[in-house]
Parts: sequence; C-alpha cells; structure tokens
Amino acid sequence: MTRIPHETADEPNPLRALTLDRLRSRTSMKWRTYPDDVLPLWVAEMDVPLAEPVVRALTEALALGDTGYPAGTSYAEALADFADKRWGWEGLAVERTAIVPDVMLGVVEMIKLVTGPGDAVVVNPPVYPPFYQFVEHMDRQVIEAPLGTDLRIDMGALEEAFRRAVTDRAHAAYLLCSPHNPTGTVHTAAELAAVAALADRHGVRVVADEIHAPLTAGGVDFVPYLSVPGAERGLSLMSASKAWNLAGLKAALAVAGPAAAADLARLPEEVSHGPSHLGIIAHTAALRDGTDWLDALLAGLDDNRRLLADLLAEQLPAITYRPGDGTYLAWLDCRALGLGDDPADVFLHRGRVALSSGVPFGTGGTGHVRLNLATSPELLTEAVRRMAAALH
Ligand SMILES: Cc1ncc(COP(=O)(O)O)c(C=O)c1O
Repeated sequence: MTRIPHETADEPNPLRALTLDRLRSRTSMKWRTYPDDVLPLWVAEMDVPLAEPVVRALTEALALGDTGYPAGTSYAEALADFADKRWGWEGLAVERTAIVPDVMLGVVEMIKLVTGPGDAVVVNPPVYPPFYQFVEHMDRQVIEAPLGTDLRIDMGALEEAFRRAVTDRAHAAYLLCSPHNPTGTVHTAAELAAVAALADRHGVRVVADEIHAPLTAGGVDFVPYLSVPGAERGLSLMSASKAWNLAGLKAALAVAGPAAAADLARLPEEVSHGPSHLGIIAHTAALRDGTDWLDALLAGLDDNRRLLADLLAEQLPAITYRPGDGTYLAWLDCRALGLGDDPADVFLHRGRVALSSGVPFGTGGTGHVRLNLATSPELLTEAVRRMAAALH
C-alpha cells in the first residue's frame, strides 16, 4: 500500500520529515522547473508533508465523492476563530467575507472594486513580483514606495507615493504585503495605524495581502491590518495556503473592514465559483485543527533562520542577511560579492542551487536573492555549501 505522506509520527518537525528522494518525486513547480542536479530553494512551496487533519479531511471528502462546488461559510468561520485565538482579533465578521479563487485573484478583484483602469496602485519594493504583473495586467499603474534601509515601510516615501497616486486620478489603492515578502518584515500595530491614517488622509484604499500571517517567528505577534484603528475602509486577503503548503488546493478569503462592506458586496457572485471545494475543505481543516502542526513548523523555521545566519557568517560573510520575523523567506544582499545584478544566475549555473532572483522584486532587488528556508536543515546546509562553492 502507498505510504500516506503525513505518517511521520516520530518526527515532530515537518521540515525534517521527507527525504530528498521523496521530494524529487513531487511534480510541482519547485521540483520540476530545474534538472535533478539542482537543489531548489526558490518558489514558495515548503518541503513538508501535509498536516494530518488536512489529509483526513481531504480523504473523507474523496471517499464521499464530495467534489462539487463550494457552499457555506465554514472557511470564514474557521478563520474568524483562528484569528481570535491566535492574534486576539475578534473583529473578523463572517458576513463581511467572500471566498475567492486564491490570494492573487482576490487582490485583483479587490483592486477592481476600489479603482478603475488607469488608476494607480502603490507597492513597497522590493516586493513579491506578481504585485507588478497582476496590477499592470489589469491596466492599473504601479507606483513604488520603496522600503527603508531597515527593510520597514518608509512613511515618507509612502506619503509621497500616495500624493502621486491621487494626482489627476479618480482613485488609488495601496497593496500592502503583511508580513512582507521577501524581507519577512512583520509590520507593527503602530506602523499599520500610521498607514491607515495616511491612506485616509490621501483617499487611498488599502488592500492588504496577509497570506503569510500565520508564519511568524517565536515571540512575534502578527497584527491584522483590519484590527488597527482607522483601517475600517480596508480590505484584506487571507488564506491557509502558505502556512500549511496548500497552494495546489486553491482557495482564499477576502475580508472587508466595516466601512468597506458595501464595496465587498459589489463583488460579482461568479467570483465565488472559482475556489476549489476541496481547497476550502483543506484550508478549513488546517485553520481549525492544524495549529499543533503549525507550531511545530514555526519552531523548525526559527531553527532554520538561526542556522542560515550561522552558515552564511561562516561560509559567505560578505552576504548581508537580516532574519525577518515572518514568512519562510530569506532576503540576501549579495552586492558585496561582486556577482553583478543577478547573483541567482551565478548560484544556479556555478553552484546548482536555485534561488529567486531579486531583480523582478522591483527597486532595491538587484544584487539580491530570495532563499526559501522551508526545507530540512540538511538541505539548507547543502544549499549554502553550494552557494559558497559557486564563488571558487
Ligand atoms: C505575498 C504573496 N501573495 C500571494 C501569493 C500567492 O498566493 P495564491 O497562490 O493564493 O495566489 C504568494 C505566494 O507566495 C505570496 O507570497
């Protein structure tokens, strides 16, 4: 009988549960884009087995043939409960949510609700490249407000970008990445309240992508954007997809602040036909019953952040790595290595390790790479060894 991949009861850290051979038999983007001699630490997929409650919920659905269209509010109810228990946020109102196919298509729909063609969308580079691609594909113009040198939101740059965004245009939106991909920056309550005040002052609508919300380091609190004072007109996208590795099981939730409820109510009904029913079943099970698994993952990620910092200090001290408090991504400043604009290309061709190039992340991305930490300590160690070997 085929071994069910979650049967790893004696290994509490999900990042240590799978062998390289087993991972290489996967058919997803992370494992199939490069040849087998390349170690892939790029796209945001994790090298973990599924959480047992997710496998159980999916297995039951398959046994029942429960593979039709989604219905009901179970996903929103599970998220509201998770948000209350995990972040102490009681304000997620199920009636102000909508299921959407995934986070990026949800972002597109929210931006369509609050802006029109030709309007501006402000982003904080370096930032997740699809923020540019999706926004430009929908005929909105991206305006950059680069992060500060401390990798946090630069309120001065944001204000300047807001000013430009509303000049000669009817509407503008700000696509906030919280926690921030690729730096792992977790925005504080004070920063988010300052964002809300600034957005209100300039008439800019905030759309927060909070897909990485459950992925915070030990002792660090994630603050939901809609929980801060002044954020009532905001819209947020949340999902279990990143924290439980469910990108192949499409689903996400759009959440409106109290003063954005009427906007969300204009979302065309057919958008709710996009998410997968099995995706919603999986995400709901993760949020409801997957917190022990999540805690074990987060402990493993804390270890990996420390391990990466140690390995780089020993083998590649010219790389600057400031471990973020969130996500499983590491943003590495490689400019001192003298490898040009795109060090990922050198690490790939000379080191046989695949990292994400910093270039598509926008202003501040050149000379940087993004490394995906969500792997075993052994593969992380091997990846840094290969990166160092690429320089000789
Ligand atoms: C910030 C951010 N938003 C959205 C996504 C993609 O989410 P989805 O697959 O639900 O569209 C990712 C994936 O890594 C991400 O990092």
